[in-house]
Amino acid sequence: MDFKLANALGRIVELKDRSTGAHTWRVTMYAQAMAEADRMPISEVMSFMLGAVLHDLGKIDVPGEILSKPSGLTDIEYLTMRRHPIDGWERLRRIGVEDPLVLNVVRSHHERMDGSGYPDGLSGSDIPMEARWFAVIDAFDAMTGLRPYRHGTREKDASRAIEELRSLSGTWYEPRAVETFEALYEAGRLGSILDHLNDQNGLETAAPPLSKEVIEMARDALLQSNPEGADHRHIDDIIKLAQHREIRS
Ligand SMILES: [Fe+2]
Repeated sequence: MDFKLANALGRIVELKDRSTGAHTWRVTMYAQAMAEADRMPISEVMSFMLGAVLHDLGKIDVPGEILSKPSGLTDIEYLTMRRHPIDGWERLRRIGVEDPLVLNVVRSHHERMDGSGYPDGLSGSDIPMEARWFAVIDAFDAMTGLRPYRHGTREKDASRAIEELRSLSGTWYEPRAVETFEALYEAGRLGSILDHLNDQNGLETAAPPLSKEVIEMARDALLQSNPEGADHRHIDDIIKLAQHREIRS
């Protein structure tokens, strides 16, 4: 999959949940910084970044009202939410994505080292390394990204988030990934990502609007990746929203 299409898919999914202010953009930039710090070969850096762009693709299938609910999900809503790694993985497989780095990040980014994560309840080294690394990034951004129901200064949030990662290192998170992330943070390498676009308008300013052609391409990919015979009204709706918001004449 090329970056243009992946970027469009990432942005379209994000249209469903506006509260995160360019979460996808930030985690992709963190992924690049982490991959480079780990001296990953360049082709793997690209795949890891693609995984970051697409990690929540499956949220296309989660109703918007569940995504934007701050807390208190019912059991059924919780289960629906927890399906997104598998839904995203299956969608990518159906459109022919085979890159294990991309697929593993999408499927396993909510797994935890002690086996308490989802969707497969994998533990330790059974969790693909790239997913263990991305889990640290995703958790950090969840703790520091703008949420309508959380207030605090950016610095306080960030150091609290680092502390949280450290305290769960080895239990939930891959220790080497936590160390690397913390070192990057301490060296000031993550500040511009953390501060940039982390506001309500973040998504609008993250990148130029998507073109009509790219949205068409994303629509084709989403329809092609839809399970056979499954309802695709939610895809049509999100594409309409994307066309409305993104195409500016
Ligand atoms: Fe996720």
